[in-house]
Amino acid sequence: MEEKKIIFIGFGNVAQSLSHLLAAKQEILKTQYGFSTRVVAIATGHHGMAMNPAGLNSEEAIALVTAGSSLNELNRSAKSDSIIELIRASQADVLFENSPVDVLSGQPAVDYLRAALECGMHAITANKGPVVNAYRELTDLAASKKRRFLFESSVMDGAPIFSLFRGLLPAIEVNGFRGILNSTSNLILELMEQGKTFDEAVKFTQTLGLAETDPNKDVDGWDAAIKVAIIATVIMGIPLKIEQIERTGIRGISPEMAQEAVKAGERWKLICSARHEGAKLVAKVGPERVKASSPFYSINGSSSYVQFETDVLPGLGIVESDPSPMTTAYGLLSDLVNAVRNG
Ligand SMILES: NC(=O)c1ccc[n+]([C@@H]2O[C@H](COP(=O)([O-])OP(=O)(O)OC[C@H]3O[C@@H](n4cnc5c(N)ncnc54)[C@H](OP(=O)(O)O)[C@@H]3O)[C@@H](O)[C@H]2O)c1
Repeated sequence: MEEKKIIFIGFGNVAQSLSHLLAAKQEILKTQYGFSTRVVAIATGHHGMAMNPAGLNSEEAIALVTAGSSLNELNRSAKSDSIIELIRASQADVLFENSPVDVLSGQPAVDYLRAALECGMHAITANKGPVVNAYRELTDLAASKKRRFLFESSVMDGAPIFSLFRGLLPAIEVNGFRGILNSTSNLILELMEQGKTFDEAVKFTQTLGLAETDPNKDVDGWDAAIKVAIIATVIMGIPLKIEQIERTGIRGISPEMAQEAVKAGERWKLICSARHEGAKLVAKVGPERVKASSPFYSINGSSSYVQFETDVLPGLGIVESDPSPMTTAYGLLSDLVNAVRNG
């Protein structure tokens, strides 16, 4: 039985859910895919790092981080002075990168993923920053090392967006898309319809582990805009920087406006879109008041939706209902299986 050694960079909501999911799926991984996994290293921002080639106990690591303690006490190897050094020393087969997003540079995640690929690991992330800022570089580096750079969870968590276009829709051309891609904003708008203040609604999404580490990234439309840029770059093949996207968040929508729309049979939604207009790709994120006949109207709570317009399938929609960090973890797990199968 092949064993894949794993290193986690970032060990918050998503990575902890992934470690539970990996434990729950060991039997299926072994019997259906012919491999098992062992966690050999974990690094965080403020809770230390640890490496143990014999295997780290993920439950112990979760307990330490949850208690606000350092992982350093689990270390059974020569101490690394930096996360990059830990990646290089880990001799892992697969790196999972789940640190907070930096929208404008993708760092330090880009450096972590690059170091992993240079060491011959598969590099898998739920972090949008490195995808929008270094998709081409990391994909080419992975190909040169016969490894994979995969990021299914970066848009719509565990829903298969990139693997769908990579595998199941050959030769299709995407002309544009519209969607609700930031589940935190969608839930905040709904909570305001129900009478919560903006601040109460934001707090609630944080307690669910749904909001970004910095929730301003959700409410100001950054998360939605970066997803638009990623879809345009990866699926439409048009490299788009976040600065090229017209972006308005949901701060301009008050509870009164949300409730007034509902009374009129409509709802406020944060709509993401990109579309060819002549030779130009016009990309936007902004609140729109949608009618009951719109497919966006019934996207409730933290669900998300994207509808692609393609040359052969005029409207192809994907809904993801009620995501959680576990849903995101599933996207990472599916990337792992795809990397090992096809890497
Ligand atoms: N939450 C979701 O459902 C979801 C969905 C899709 C995508 N994502 C993406 O997944 C990633 C992780 O999200 P999360 O919800 O797990 O975040 P989180 O709970 O805030 O965890 C972030 C982790 O990254 C660590 N970290 C902070 N700065 C770091 C650095 N400079 N280098 C290495 N590690 C660092 C943190 O350590 P300390 O706590 O010690 O600082 C923590 O362990 C983000 O990029 C997010 O956008 C999340």
